[in-house]
Amino acid sequence: MEFMDVLKNRYSCKKYDGIQITKEELEVILEAGRLAPTAKNNQEQHIYVVQSAEELAKIDSLTPCRYGAPTVLIVAFDKNNTFTYPGQKYDSGIEDAAIVTTHMLLAAKSVGVESCWVNFFDPDKVKEAFNLPENEDVLTFVDLGYAADGAGPLANHDSRKPLADTVSYL
Ligand SMILES: Cc1cc2nc3c(=O)[nH]c(=O)nc-3n(C[C@H](O)[C@H](O)[C@H](O)COP(=O)(O)O)c2cc1C
Repeated sequence: MEFMDVLKNRYSCKKYDGIQITKEELEVILEAGRLAPTAKNNQEQHIYVVQSAEELAKIDSLTPCRYGAPTVLIVAFDKNNTFTYPGQKYDSGIEDAAIVTTHMLLAAKSVGVESCWVNFFDPDKVKEAFNLPENEDVLTFVDLGYAADGAGPLANHDSRKPLADTVSYL
């Protein structure tokens, strides 16, 4: 698929058919995350692949937004290995995990896998439920799977502001 078509066709899927994605598709998605840029190339992301019924049930206890996806990625990052901005107030952890996530969402679409970025959960409870290391913070879940019959983009998918509202030429 052409890159702009991937961008146009990706949508947040909110109903999956439950069929597991293939190992090859998952590997393409994870590789796309691996190729993402990170500040200072720190690569502090840590992706947890959740596929077993037992672990998916934990996801369901943490968010209503799995929508039947058979695979969920938990995207976390090592908060001790981020780039700190000059001024020492901000760091790159969220940004780095976000671009890794973005790469994976787009790669998913390119291989015919639908996705949804989910942040409707308490990150501390996710850490506790999955016994994640103390030095990692959780940014997002990524639902992955094939769309169920009748599923598709919500009405707001095409409602993007015109560029004039979000871009200024200085
Ligand atoms: C940072 C972020 C957090 C999101 N969290 C959720 C979520 O918790 N649950 C959900 O159903 N969708 C979530 N979404 C999906 C957005 O609602 C969706 O991207 C937006 O409405 C535009 O729709 P589209 O992705 O189909 O174009 C999230 C998206 C982003 C980028």
